[in-house]
Amino acid sequence: MSGKVGEKQSRGQAPRKKGDAPAPVQEPMRIAKAMAHAGLCSRRDAERWIEAGRVTVNGKVLETPAHVVSATDTIVVDGKPLPQSGPARLWRYNKPKGLITSHKDPLNRKTVFEALPDKLPRVVSVGRLDINTEGLLLLTTDGALARHLELPSTGWLRRYRVRAHGNVTQDALDKLQGGVTIDGISYGPIEARVEREQGHNVWLVLALREGKNREVKRIAEHLGLVVNRLIRITFGPFALGDLASGTVDEVKPKVLVDQLGTKLAGEFGLRRGQLDRQPTRRR
Ligand code: URA
Repeated sequence: MSGKVGEKQSRGQAPRKKGDAPAPVQEPMRIAKAMAHAGLCSRRDAERWIEAGRVTVNGKVLETPAHVVSATDTIVVDGKPLPQSGPARLWRYNKPKGLITSHKDPLNRKTVFEALPDKLPRVVSVGRLDINTEGLLLLTTDGALARHLELPSTGWLRRYRVRAHGNVTQDALDKLQGGVTIDGISYGPIEARVEREQGHNVWLVLALREGKNREVKRIAEHLGLVVNRLIRITFGPFALGDLASGTVDEVKPKVLVDQLGTKLAGEFGLRRGQLDRQPTRRR
């Protein structure tokens, strides 16, 4: 595929109505994997929850995470049915500043998930953006896909536009190409260039492949800069493009298969030739 998804306006398909029926589990899989796919928790959490007796299958408390489940099983976690997962779905979202990327906030600040358009089913985010960061946040119905895409080993480049107070030379930015260690935390190779200067601020474009906590701000601080605006413009093959702030756009299943590759896409219930919409429901 040429270019990034979103650069050439990729339009999503018709939004699903709230009352649509859930799709069945695609194929038999271990219970912990099914719970992770449903976006409920990680596989490790699932194992702990099973040990703690919080999961039943067909009315029986489960004793082992090795249990294999299929479409005909009734899985209940903490008394609630597990949402059935159809093929993974993915959206580009233009996160406005002021929202936290968390399902719950102890400080009661507004979350991304409260702000999402109602038409979306239950989704999880691929990594996080800080409260004041804007721009591209990927959202998916599949928790295991989210974890896969956010892993540094997946190697997807995240590109940011950064407005920062202070001065920096291109020479100093070029030194970041070899990676940098700040307060004992190592960052891999960073591409950075000055886009323009604006009064006491400088606009930079910075790209890295990790996803560590506050990484752009820390790297900027290391250069003597204070970030006052941060916008993520790409994540792997997906671009923010001209998506309006606060809106979402679904990535077409076929595009997702192209980007993941047929084998990996199959693990997330996406198969070439079977890409008709199979709805999942928001919990
Ligand atoms: N780096 C940051 O400092 N914050 C973000 O939200 C993302 C990357």
